[in-house]
Amino acid sequence: MSLTRPDLAALPSYVPGRNPADLARELGLPEAIKLASNEVPFGPLPGVTEAVALAATQMHRYPDMGVVALREELGKRYGVDPARIATGCGSVALAEHLAKATAVPGDEIVYSWRSFEAYPIITAGTGATSVRVPNTSTHGHDLDAMAAAITDRTRLVLVCNPNNPTGTALRRAELEQFLDAVPADLLVVIDEAYREFITDPEVPDGLELAGDRPNVVVLRTLSKAWGLAGVRVGWLAAPEPVADAVRKVVTPFSVSAIAQPAAIAALQQPEEMQRRVDVIVAERRRVAAALRAWVPDVPVSQSNFVWLPLGDKSAEFGAGCEARGVIVRPFQGDGVRVTIGTPAENDVFLGVAKDVLAG
Ligand SMILES: Cc1ncc(COP(=O)(O)O)c(C=O)c1O
Repeated sequence: MSLTRPDLAALPSYVPGRNPADLARELGLPEAIKLASNEVPFGPLPGVTEAVALAATQMHRYPDMGVVALREELGKRYGVDPARIATGCGSVALAEHLAKATAVPGDEIVYSWRSFEAYPIITAGTGATSVRVPNTSTHGHDLDAMAAAITDRTRLVLVCNPNNPTGTALRRAELEQFLDAVPADLLVVIDEAYREFITDPEVPDGLELAGDRPNVVVLRTLSKAWGLAGVRVGWLAAPEPVADAVRKVVTPFSVSAIAQPAAIAALQQPEEMQRRVDVIVAERRRVAAALRAWVPDVPVSQSNFVWLPLGDKSAEFGAGCEARGVIVRPFQGDGVRVTIGTPAENDVFLGVAKDVLAG
């Protein structure tokens, strides 16, 4: 007799990126490089550290539970009514709240696979059943197959655009066609954690394309381009009744008194955010082009990482990089995701990759 739900035994654990300081110590290197968690490597945006220091003087108080100032700031910046915005402890928590707000045991949640590794965990957490639709041969979502996988038990569809970990992105016409095909009483989440890194003009902004559809939620985060991964702030734009439902199930006070002003300060720096994103995008092109000399089918990435479809060689490649002081993210059987770092970090990675692939 188990004290906790027996079905959790079959649940894969979320794998966090390894700590580079530990690895450096283990290998006897001055430092190791972590390209495993899709963080942006340039530090907090200007003004954020100061806002956090000021907020820290009040840390004995609870945060604003309504997250009013931040929701107003987001509403202004993105042209969304704050009543339609819900915030959470990272967008991953919001995805979890959406699952909780829509699905009960026996229901189904449809998503592409391979995609964000939290989706199966979130689905199982609600007791719902995962319906995984295999990616196309070019590593993107198969929207026709996803539409065909919808049944009368489906309560939620997760569309990851661009997709983590493959970096591929859906274009306007295909996404619109999919949204038209989905039943009106089924909620579709467009997870745009990497929106800021998109350069293909054919890849739509979910808020512009579908933000006003009555069954679409757009998920965004401050963790990636805005540089706040460690502070944990995500947000969503949803039809008002859905935003209300999410606010009901959210863990109270889950966006902390440090996170709220940090996010507001970061949002004051769109130009600097864009400048940093431009560096990452240029590096993404350079790294992908270099990798294609050795792994020809590296897909075009619209994100801050690249995907090496190494299949059964993925774990071996990951271990080879790690043994040389570079932490990447292998998904054995499928491929390896490598976050774009600073130009110097990327140079080290390319040298290591060449070495490992030649081995
Ligand atoms: C597709 C996708 N969605 C959501 C998240 C969650 O980000 P956070 O919880 O930091 O906002 C991630 C993080 O890796 C992601 O890749």
